[in-house]
Amino acid sequence: MSYKVAVVGASGNVGREMLEILHERNFPVSEVVALASSRSVGKEVSFGDDDLKIQDLAKYDFKGTDFVFSSPGAAVSAEFAPKAGKAGAIVIDNTSHFRMDPDVPLVVPEVNPEALKDYGKKNIIANPNCSTIQMLVALKPLHDAATIKRVVVSTYQSVSGAGKEAMDELFNQSRTFFMNNEPKQEIFPKQIAFNIIPQIDKFMDDHQTKEEWKMVVETKKILDKKIQVCANCVRVPVFIGHAEMINVELEKPLSRKEAMSLWRKAPGISVIDVESEMEFITPAEISGEDDVYISRVREDISVENGLNFWCVADNMRKGAALNSVQIAETLIKDFL
Ligand SMILES: NC(=O)c1ccc[n+]([C@@H]2O[C@H](COP(=O)([O-])OP(=O)(O)OC[C@H]3O[C@@H](n4cnc5c(N)ncnc54)[C@H](OP(=O)(O)O)[C@@H]3O)[C@@H](O)[C@H]2O)c1
Repeated sequence: MSYKVAVVGASGNVGREMLEILHERNFPVSEVVALASSRSVGKEVSFGDDDLKIQDLAKYDFKGTDFVFSSPGAAVSAEFAPKAGKAGAIVIDNTSHFRMDPDVPLVVPEVNPEALKDYGKKNIIANPNCSTIQMLVALKPLHDAATIKRVVVSTYQSVSGAGKEAMDELFNQSRTFFMNNEPKQEIFPKQIAFNIIPQIDKFMDDHQTKEEWKMVVETKKILDKKIQVCANCVRVPVFIGHAEMINVELEKPLSRKEAMSLWRKAPGISVIDVESEMEFITPAEISGEDDVYISRVREDISVENGLNFWCVADNMRKGAALNSVQIAETLIKDFL
């Protein structure tokens, strides 16, 4: 069996990664269609050795398309995804728009694949926020073994999480800095080159940012509504790869050694041991990798049953495109 696939947002960061991963993993395609805004019509993107001409999303008829991998921004998804779903396509959407809709499964395949049973309610499945995905892959084995009560996470998020223009802004500001010119600031609220910014997405009424709120509510929807989450989200001048320092408080004791042994058996995780040659891992080292990397594991002696660790993943792969393709693979294997 093979499937007609459309990639919406194909000219963007996530869309290009989506095409690469679909090809890399030999996703069973009969045809691949690349869609974006009218601005990109006629431009080409690669799918393996093939060049696909980008078509206009606004003019595309989804009848006969089996899967849609979508990342055109929340407002665009809000408009086109329900129509595509009604036309019979299964939409796997990367934007924030449908994530908290009770009729839309929000899925990390290593964590809650069973939620996919409800995919047909709207024919839309939501891909969680990039920071939530990597954290939950790491938390799942700990929660199963010793029940997490509370998580405190501080993120160090790369600029690629904000799209291709955000990557350009870091590049241009860095270059300008060495030329002693005034850096141009359009995408980020403050200078991002040689700086860090404690604001991702907009501020909400309670003074947290929407990115922080997403990590709280998405964790509850995917893993367990009883878990308390305190998230601090920070943008750093890194091109690709999000890092997180995570502190968990568990109901039962779990030693550093036991946690590492659980992670070693869990899917999608690589543990970098302090005793090994390379004692921790950084975003620059995992760009292009599929796994969530865990290092700096230690017991937190300031609370009962506390653990601290450092968690790094490629935000455009596991944080977006890879997770979406894994959702489709799980659907095909277990639900279609
Ligand atoms: N990057 C990440 O790590 C990540 C992770 C998870 C989720 N996401 C989410 O995924 C979405 C896209 O992120 P990105 O990083 O790929 O952004 P991006 O690099 O800025 O790409 C945006 C894509 O959306 C397309 N688009 C914009 N307006 C459109 C319209 N009216 N009709 C059709 N297509 C339109 C763009 O096409 P044109 O080139 O024609 O404008 C482009 O292909 C965002 O909602 C983001 O929050 C991103």
